[in-house]
Amino acid sequence: MAEGTLSVTDSRTGARYELPITASTVRAMDLRQIRTDPDEFGLMSYDPGYTNTAACTSRVAYLDGARGVLRYRGYPIEDLAKNCTYTEVAHLLMRGHLPTSAELHGWDNELAAEMRLPPGLPDLIETFPAGAHPMVMLASTVAALGTYYPDGRHVTDTACRHRQRLRLLAKIPLIAALIYRRTRRYSRSEPRPDLGYAGNFLHMLWQGTSRQLGPQDLKVLAKALDALLVLHAEHEQNCSTSTMRQVASSEADPYVSLAAAVAALSGPLHGGANERVLQMLDEIGSTAGIPAFMRSVKAGERRMMGFGHRVYKNYDPRARVLQDFAEQVFETTGKNPKIALAVELERIALQDDYFVRRKLYPNVDFYSGIIYEAMGFPPEMFTVLFAIGRVAGWLTHWDESMADPERRIARPRQIYRGPGITAFVPIEARGRDYAEERPAAPVSSHGSVPSHRSL
Ligand code: CMC
Repeated sequence: MAEGTLSVTDSRTGARYELPITASTVRAMDLRQIRTDPDEFGLMSYDPGYTNTAACTSRVAYLDGARGVLRYRGYPIEDLAKNCTYTEVAHLLMRGHLPTSAELHGWDNELAAEMRLPPGLPDLIETFPAGAHPMVMLASTVAALGTYYPDGRHVTDTACRHRQRLRLLAKIPLIAALIYRRTRRYSRSEPRPDLGYAGNFLHMLWQGTSRQLGPQDLKVLAKALDALLVLHAEHEQNCSTSTMRQVASSEADPYVSLAAAVAALSGPLHGGANERVLQMLDEIGSTAGIPAFMRSVKAGERRMMGFGHRVYKNYDPRARVLQDFAEQVFETTGKNPKIALAVELERIALQDDYFVRRKLYPNVDFYSGIIYEAMGFPPEMFTVLFAIGRVAGWLTHWDESMADPERRIARPRQIYRGPGITAFVPIEARGRDYAEERPAAPVSSHGSVPSHRSL
């Protein structure tokens, strides 16, 4: 990548600056020297939603949104989804390389040894209202898990971090399964680590219920679930991963940091979209309902869930894998009739000028819910399944950020637009006149009038 400088002339002063360019990036702090007089704060960059701001360097995922490319540590996502188990990919992400058979065996054993929960945790889950959303229960339980592991606070200790990563990776599916059972008012189930990562999760979900799987079905569905977890394992600086990094930047323990990531994932614009896609398809009902639905999307009344992405301006490669994968899963589970509606909706959208001009394509959430539903998961569990997969990515970024010599506490700037200094009025003097008073002219947080910051 060519390096060089960005030559900037400040039209206010005529001064020229040379800003170094490294990896197609200028450092925001290099803008600070640009000022009209020595007492001024200097220029900032303004970027709500971090649309064009790199907050860290990372060696984990490569994403080319224009070409629809996603690789974990250099490996194309398509190859990993086809050939690897989730724990193999978690090893790749968290340990930095694909394991040999012996390494994978050792890694799976380490995880199996952690597949148990502190006794108080299932009790806690049983105190949640059964009608609560599973993602809210998950965020709460993950934070509570940290109460059992106070050593988790030693976040600058590499060996300690490794212990926490193993614990979290191994225990989250167990927690998720018990949360599901709580929503169904089933009694708790016990782990069977010998069934493997995905197999144990499926066993715990339905053990002793009318949905309990026989060994063959469990094996087939565990394989399918594994591929889904691989596809969700990592996606660089998305909202939840950035949240995890942001919370952890204060050296908070990984349990509360990961709980924050779960919270971020739960929103419908992020991982919560998979649940909403199913609701949307239910509302559309049949292909006859598509035109009216498209009209309301184009009128700005609603969004097409599972479509659009901040980074992909092309087909999300995960959605492509999922579309093909759906047919394989349906061979075992039976076809989910919603797939035909989704495919037709996609076909119509991709020909529509509204979507074409905005480069809106299906994202990972468009097809995943249809597959989850065919596998027997209720919609409110879809985002939990996303979370289980993403744990490997979150923990990888957590560890990477903790070891990063450039890490600093996350603390963005703001452009202050509130009132200037205001004379205090005692409560007994706050009558009608006070309420009708206009606020004073705004000043910026660092004291100067922000006229040049009118964005
Ligand atoms: N349906 C209709 N219009 C859309 C959609 C959509 N799904 N997504 C974006 N647009 C329009 C938006 O209205 C805007 O139009 P205009 O320029 O006329 O104002 C334009 O496209 C750009 O949208 P934006 O909101 O500025 O884009 P963003 O990068 O801030 O938001 C997004 C990205 C994923 C939040 C958004 O595309 C969205 O809301 N999609 C639906 C929810 C969804 O599927 N989320 C899952 C994301 S992928 C899984 C994950 O990583 O979580």
